[in-house]
Amino acid sequence: MSGLYKCWLPEKNDKRLAPWKNYFTSVYADSSDKTTQTAVRELCRAADMKITSERTGEGFALVTDESLGAGGYSIGITDREAVIAGGDGSGKLYGVLRFLTLAAGGMLTRGTQLCESPAYPLRIIDHWDNADGTVERGYSGGSLFFREGRVSDDTEALTDYARLLASVGINAVCPNNVNVHSTETLFITDRYLGDFARVADIFRSYGIRLFLSVNFAAPAQIGGLDTADPRDDAVRKWWSSAAAEIYRRIPDFGGFVVKADSEGRPGPHTYGRDHADGANMLAEALAPYGGAVIWRCFVYNCRTDWRDRSTDRAKAAYDNFLPLDGRFADNVYLQIKNGPMDFQIREPVSPLFGALNKTNMLAEFQITQEYTGQQIDLCYLVPMWKECLDSGTRRGQVKDRILGAAGVSNTGDGTFLTGNPLAGANMYGFGRLLFEPEQSAERIAAEWVCASVTSDKSAADKIVSMLMRSREIYENYTSPLGVGWMVVPHTHYGVDVDGYEYSRWGTYHYADRDGIGADRTQATGTGYTSQYDTGLAGLYENINTCPDELLLFFHHVPYTHILHSGKTVIQHIYDSHFEGAEQAAALLEEWKSLKAYIQADIYAECLRRFGLQLTNSENWRDVINTYFFRKSGIPDSHGRKIYE
Ligand code: GCU
Repeated sequence: MSGLYKCWLPEKNDKRLAPWKNYFTSVYADSSDKTTQTAVRELCRAADMKITSERTGEGFALVTDESLGAGGYSIGITDREAVIAGGDGSGKLYGVLRFLTLAAGGMLTRGTQLCESPAYPLRIIDHWDNADGTVERGYSGGSLFFREGRVSDDTEALTDYARLLASVGINAVCPNNVNVHSTETLFITDRYLGDFARVADIFRSYGIRLFLSVNFAAPAQIGGLDTADPRDDAVRKWWSSAAAEIYRRIPDFGGFVVKADSEGRPGPHTYGRDHADGANMLAEALAPYGGAVIWRCFVYNCRTDWRDRSTDRAKAAYDNFLPLDGRFADNVYLQIKNGPMDFQIREPVSPLFGALNKTNMLAEFQITQEYTGQQIDLCYLVPMWKECLDSGTRRGQVKDRILGAAGVSNTGDGTFLTGNPLAGANMYGFGRLLFEPEQSAERIAAEWVCASVTSDKSAADKIVSMLMRSREIYENYTSPLGVGWMVVPHTHYGVDVDGYEYSRWGTYHYADRDGIGADRTQATGTGYTSQYDTGLAGLYENINTCPDELLLFFHHVPYTHILHSGKTVIQHIYDSHFEGAEQAAALLEEWKSLKAYIQADIYAECLRRFGLQLTNSENWRDVINTYFFRKSGIPDSHGRKIYE
C-alpha cells in the first residue's frame, strides 16, 4: 500500500474481514487474462491465501459468465464458497473489489446474491492535472500523475489509484488538464509516450484505458506546420501519424479529450471550420485503432459586455452544437456539462441532452468541488448528479440518452486522497452512479460511510444524514434561488456578490434596487427557455410554475415577489442565509459528537474543515444579507442582525 489513503477498500488482514476468514483460504480463477490476474492479486492482497488450479468448492472462485456482459458481475456466497462471476476479466475484478468494499463496510452476509453491471460503456475520470504537478481546480494537493514536468514513476501510488478507480467501475482515465499548455502539447510525442505507455500498463491491468487531452493547434505549435486547419491535408496527415505512434506504444489507447474554441483554447473556428470538422478530423486519425474523440461542449463567448442583454452564456452550448447534430463521426462523443453554465450549486439540466438526437453524448460532472465548497465545505454531490440523470426530455430521461459520463477528478497527492476525507463520498458516488443510476443517493452514501469512515451503525446514520443535507446547506448560505456565482473571482471560493457582475464572463445576477435575477424567458428575456422541449420550456417560462430553487435563473423579479413557499424573495434571502449559517454550525457540533467513532486523523481533518466552513457560511450570510438589505431597503421581518 502506498501512502494513498485507502478509502473504502480494506487493508491487508483488515480486522473487518475477520467474519470472512473461512473464505480467505484459497482462490481459484478459470482464466488468466490480465484483469482476472489482478482480481486474484487483489484478493491475496487482502489476506494471504493459496491460489489453486482446480475449483475446490471452498474459498473464492472467480469464474466467467459471459451472459453478465462487459464489466458485469455477480457475487454468490454459499456456506463454504464465495463465487464471483464476471462477464469478462474486468467484471471479475469489479466483483472482487465490490466484495472487499461491502465486506469492509459490514454490508455482506452469507446469503448475499448480488448481480450488477455497468449502465454505460464509458466511465471516465478527467484529471485537470498539469505537467508541473499543479492541479487546476484541485483541492487535494498536487497531481498523482505529474511532477516538475515529468510523468510520475511512483508505480505503487499509481497502482493504488488505479485499484481505487476500478473499485467503483471506472474504465477510462485522462490524466492531463483540458487546458493543454505548451509542455502538455508534447505529451503525444516521443518525448512523453514512453512514460504514458508505462502508466497505461498499470491502468490496463485494472481494466482502465488511458486518454490524453490534446491541443487542437498542435500541428502548428509543435508539428512545424503553418496551420492546424482540420481540412488541410498536411494537418490530417500529422494527426494520423501522431495516432499511429501513440498506438504503436499503447495499443489500447482510449483517445483524445478536446477543449476547443473555449476560454481562449485554439480550435477549428480559427480556420473558419466548425466543431464537427475539428472533431471528425481527429476521429479519422483514431478510427483505425478503435480510438474515440471526446469533444467538450463547454463553448461560449467569454468576452461579453454586461450591458448587452441579448447574449446569454446559458444558450451557448446548444447554439453551438445543435446545428451540428448528425454530422459527428461515430467515434466522436460530445461531453456536456450537467447544466448550461458551469457547475454551480443549482442549475437546470443542460437542454442539449434532450435536443441532440444523432450524436453520442456523455455527461460531464465536476467531482472536484470548485464552486461547491472546494472540499472545505461539505457538499455531497450525488443528489445533484441524479437530478441531471433523472431529468426528462421529449426523448426520454437523460440517463437513458447518454453513453456514459466523465467526472472531473477531486483527487490529489495530499494526505487524504480527496483533501477532505468526506469528499471521498463524491468520488465513490460518481462511479457507483454509472453502474446503477437507479441507486438512491442515500444508499450510495451509506455504503461509502460504512466502508470508509465508521463501523458504528448510529454514527454512520448521522454522517449519512449530514451528507444528505449538505448540498442544501451550502446552497442556503451561498447564491440564492439558482442565480449562481457571487463568488470571489478566479479562486471561486468565498463570497463576492459583484465579483463577476460587470465582467466579461457572462455570469450576471442583475440585482438593482428593485429586483434580481436573469430573465431567460422567451416573452421578455434571452429566450433560453425555448431550448427545452415542450414540458420544461413551459414550466420554466411561466413564473407561476418555475420552481423556487431556479426562479432567479429564469426570471428577474422584484424583491417582494412571493415564492411558492409563501415568502418574499428578499425574506427568503435573509432566512436561507441565517439558516444556512446555523446549519453549518450544527454540522460542526454533529461532527464533534462523533469523535469516539472515527479514526483520529480523519476526525481532526474534518473538524478543522467544518470550522472553516462555519466561518465561510457566516461571511456569506453577512455579506449577502447586507448587500440585499442595502439594495432593497427592505428590513428582515424577524429583525435579526444585518450589518448596515
Ligand atoms: C471552469 C473552470 C476552469 C475550467 C473550465 C472548463 O470554468 O473554472 O478552470 O478550465 O471550467 O471546464 O474547461
